Amino acid sequence: MQWTSLLAFATLAPFANALLRFPCSQLVTQRFDPLVTPGSVSPHVHQIVGGPPLFRRKCSADYDNSFDVAMDPSIDYAKTSTCTTCRFKEDASNYWTAVLYFKNPNGSFIRVPQMANQFTGSPNGGMTVYYIQPPNNVKVTSFPKGFRMIVGNPFLRNATGIDLNGNIGKAVTNRCFGANFGSDASWPHPGTGPLDTYELPKKACAGGIRSNIFFPSCWNGKDLNPADHASHMAYPVGTLPRDGHFFMGGTCPSTHPVRMPLLFMEIVWDTRQFNNMWPTDGSQPFVFSQGDPTGFGQHADYVFGWDGDSLQRAMDTCTDLSGVPENCRALTTLSDSQINSCKQQVRVDEVVEGRYLNSLPGCNAPQPGPAQATMVANCNALSSYIGMPTGTAGPTVTSTPTSTTVVNPTTSSTTVVTPTAPAGPAVPKYGQCGGTGWTGSTQCVSGSSFSTESLTFHTGGNLAFAIAA
Ligand SMILES: *[C@@H]1O[C@H](CO)[C@@H](O)[C@H](O)[C@H]1NC(C)=O
Ligand SMILES: *[C@@H]1O[C@H](CO)[C@@H](O)[C@H](O)[C@H]1NC(C)=O
Repeated sequence: MQWTSLLAFATLAPFANALLRFPCSQLVTQRFDPLVTPGSVSPHVHQIVGGPPLFRRKCSADYDNSFDVAMDPSIDYAKTSTCTTCRFKEDASNYWTAVLYFKNPNGSFIRVPQMANQFTGSPNGGMTVYYIQPPNNVKVTSFPKGFRMIVGNPFLRNATGIDLNGNIGKAVTNRCFGANFGSDASWPHPGTGPLDTYELPKKACAGGIRSNIFFPSCWNGKDLNPADHASHMAYPVGTLPRDGHFFMGGTCPSTHPVRMPLLFMEIVWDTRQFNNMWPTDGSQPFVFSQGDPTGFGQHADYVFGWDGDSLQRAMDTCTDLSGVPENCRALTTLSDSQINSCKQQVRVDEVVEGRYLNSLPGCNAPQPGPAQATMVANCNALSSYIGMPTGTAGPTVTSTPTSTTVVNPTTSSTTVVTPTAPAGPAVPKYGQCGGTGWTGSTQCVSGSSFSTESLTFHTGGNLAFAIAA
């Protein structure tokens, strides 16, 4: 949202929310999703921000303390993180979303660069994260250690059955910006204005497109990370005011009575350089990395990783309506150079950005719907990750669509280290023992031991429908 507008709005409006608002630079962009496909290369590309040691694994002979594709909830990542890409030193959480590609009329794809949101400093791509409190200083309970959640469904391609004026219809939206972040001034609250649409904007947006992603803020008080990563959370209920329950409070339903901070993310896609390259038939040319040209399949993941009780302390004491990080004395702010220098190296040996690609990484030929998207059978995309990086680290916000060589990531067949002949204990599909892509791994490599992450989830089988549940 536009910062000055929020301030103006907050002072004028009969309601006001205390909040934290801060940038998180890009940590790494690749086909990893340690929540949905732990231990495997994920089906589509994500941009990940936050604290690096998230991906630490246990089921591995080459256990190291820096990086991996699966997450062990027994590890306190805030303690093991050496840095974070988020503004607050205490926040080693991880947040990730799909990324956006431009489909050139000639059929090639290139990643859309991201730009810093307004009044966030100079983060390197990534996103803006908000922890918003209900109005009137209603107390919130911090997410507990081990908490994870997902919002959105990557397979969705239509809004049938979704109330576009309800919380669900406004939770994951896209704002079509006029030049210089224009349009915010007239409608500061994201997700609820006339230029916020569930689907991707159908016209060229002079100032780029901003994704607005609201997570549900009511917890069932029991589950940290259920099989579907979503049913433990619900949106507030009650008559929906103009600006949505996101800012107006609402009441938590009896099934999910615990009020948590409202986690909200904004991502600004710098689509400006593509505005004169729209297809002649007028169809919009952008596609999310899961092969979604509609925008209905936008989704985001959260893995809580705040140090100790720091988030609770911040929620209790940082009741500043501006959300400016420096005003929250309970937390330690990091500089732009500190958050921008925290990086993880790419471990999936394929090109995902910076130049035109023949196809979207993974098997993600655009599926425009309206039918629910399906996983491609017998996907031959690269499915192993490597110990040493060979790709680029971090994003480039300066890439131009005029770069040269077209590469086909699906035929990359180089120096990947695949797990050797399995000899350890068997684990379910999508276990943490390396992985062979979408088929999942079934055994640990020799010399390793298995340590459970979320077996209830792993036995879920078809991930596509686990998320949709
Ligand atoms: C499509 O156009 C881009 C930009 O000119 C170019 O880099 C790419 O090689 C082209 N792709 C094909 C398949 O011609
Ligand atoms: C719309 O999406 C839902 C959920 O993915 C799906 O079940 C339904 O079949 C789709 N509608 C059409 C007309 O394809």
